[in-house]
Amino acid sequence: MKIFIDTANIDEIREANDYGLIDGVTTNPTLISKAQKNGKSFSDIASEILRTVNGPVSLEVVSEKSDEMVQQALKLHNLGSNAVIKIPMTLEGLKTMKILKEKSISVNTTLVFNPVQALLAAKNGASYVSPFVGRLDDIGEDGMSIINQIKTIFTNYNISTEILVASVRNPVHVLRAAIIGADVVTVPFDVIKKLTTHPKTDEGLSRFMDDWKKVSPDGSLPL
Ligand code: E4P
Repeated sequence: MKIFIDTANIDEIREANDYGLIDGVTTNPTLISKAQKNGKSFSDIASEILRTVNGPVSLEVVSEKSDEMVQQALKLHNLGSNAVIKIPMTLEGLKTMKILKEKSISVNTTLVFNPVQALLAAKNGASYVSPFVGRLDDIGEDGMSIINQIKTIFTNYNISTEILVASVRNPVHVLRAAIIGADVVTVPFDVIKKLTTHPKTDEGLSRFMDDWKKVSPDGSLPL
């Protein structure tokens, strides 16, 4: 399962990239607005992310009309060969996906909240569908259950569109995504860090370091 980082913050992206933890990035207008400091333009932010990461970077259109979405998608696509265009799951969005598919531009369908929406996006050529599991949990539904359903539908019809689990809030979302066999999870940096830790790892390491001082009082490896 691929792990993308869900942020437009270049410092977080660089750090996660240096740890070797990420295969790509997803952004959205809210994340860009949070990252837009020090007078950096949208184009500076997007270009820097595209250069930093050796993997797909989702950049979102900001129109609800298909002709405008297509124009914006073409501009975003020109920013870097690893740009993936995020298109919202609407009728106008579906029309846009079909046009972009004909131009061989990779699309990530965003704001997917049910399995049939995912099926329609896949039929219109999306490379990724992004079901927002955390936002479903927020309204008392079990967000991960739609990942199961999408997986079943895509398997039934041998659909190659990748399931990108979005709106991830905790490590259990990541665990369940992996058990279901989702293709990608996009995860905020604080949750990525939580994935790496366990109290028994810390406790075990601390005991090894203490015991080593019985062998080598200054803690070095005497070779
Ligand atoms: C997906 O690509 C979105 O950027 C993101 O996962 C939305 O998450 P949120 O519900 O935490 O805003």
